[in-house]
Amino acid sequence: METVLSGIRSTGNLHLGNYFGAVKNFIKMQHEYKCFFFIADYHSLTTHPHPADLHANVKQVLVEYLACGIDPEVATIYIQSDLPEIAELYLLLNMNAYVGELERATTFKEKVRKQPDNVNAGLLTYPVLMAADILIHRAVKVPVGKDQEQHLEMARTFGNRFNRLYNTELFPEPFAFNFGTNLVKIPGLDGTGKMGKSEGEGNAIFLADTPEVIRKKVMRAVTDGGPKQENQEKPEVIQNIFMLMEVVSSKETYDHFNDLYNTMKIRYGDLKKQLAEDMINFTEPLRKRITELSSDEDYIHKVAKHGAEKARESASKTISEARRVIGFRHF
Ligand code: TYM
Repeated sequence: METVLSGIRSTGNLHLGNYFGAVKNFIKMQHEYKCFFFIADYHSLTTHPHPADLHANVKQVLVEYLACGIDPEVATIYIQSDLPEIAELYLLLNMNAYVGELERATTFKEKVRKQPDNVNAGLLTYPVLMAADILIHRAVKVPVGKDQEQHLEMARTFGNRFNRLYNTELFPEPFAFNFGTNLVKIPGLDGTGKMGKSEGEGNAIFLADTPEVIRKKVMRAVTDGGPKQENQEKPEVIQNIFMLMEVVSSKETYDHFNDLYNTMKIRYGDLKKQLAEDMINFTEPLRKRITELSSDEDYIHKVAKHGAEKARESASKTISEARRVIGFRHF
């Protein structure tokens, strides 16, 4: 059975971009593949979280994964920092990752632009750590949103390079995967493009947002002055609102507002009201489960422990083989 691996950084609550970009498909995938889903807490260190927040964030993402329907008895769910094997593979891969290629990564260039005062080596080698996450289980399918495509290409480069250098076939090539459909990019509400947790206030709708918060954020979403002619192409900000509607609303609702747009009868206030209600209908059951699970400390502890054991079993096999082909021997 093919191995699937995917992760989410523990830098904040899950939003609709995470859900529709990756998590939604995890639920179906877990029954068809050998699945590893993890919480990337090492990765979150690039932004220097306060120690008190780090643990709370990891717990929150774990709870939200479970609330979305990931079954810890079927898939393996674990926390990245519970697997020291990942850190070791990261070190080994770093020896053959070139500064030039890391500096050219789009995500790195974006971080340098956004946070010029914190350009740390962890940011530069972020794709190497991500490659280690994937290669440690020799995964071939990696469910991700469109923003992670370049990182997958780098993971293939690092795996292939290792294989060539040590004359081994240890690492298969991993590919971005979305269960037979195209990779998606869910837009944010502020007209800047992608929904993301590090974007501006009001950009993202979180699964744990209350109905009042969702209404407020959606009503403030950026729009324009309205269509100027019938059947015109939608400008990006409007396209974004419709794309969000496509994922949370029924086809009838989408078609209804699309027709109103095309016939120039649309009122953005009505469109946003409907979108907010459909987002609330979608997130409400998840929010309830998140609240319930959050208080079940015993269960969370059990899931994390069980996941770490299963994941380490897989990771330790890979790291032993990597050490062997490199030439490390015990005295
Ligand atoms: P992260 O935490 O930013 O996002 C987690 C997942 O959600 C997807 N995603 C989106 N998809 C569509 N539209 C959006 N607006 C959107 N925002 C986020 C991301 O593509 C991702 O699939 N580097 C990764 C975490 C990671 C990882 C890995 C993923 C670390 N190691 C190994 C896969 C395999 C990240 O920062 O994702």
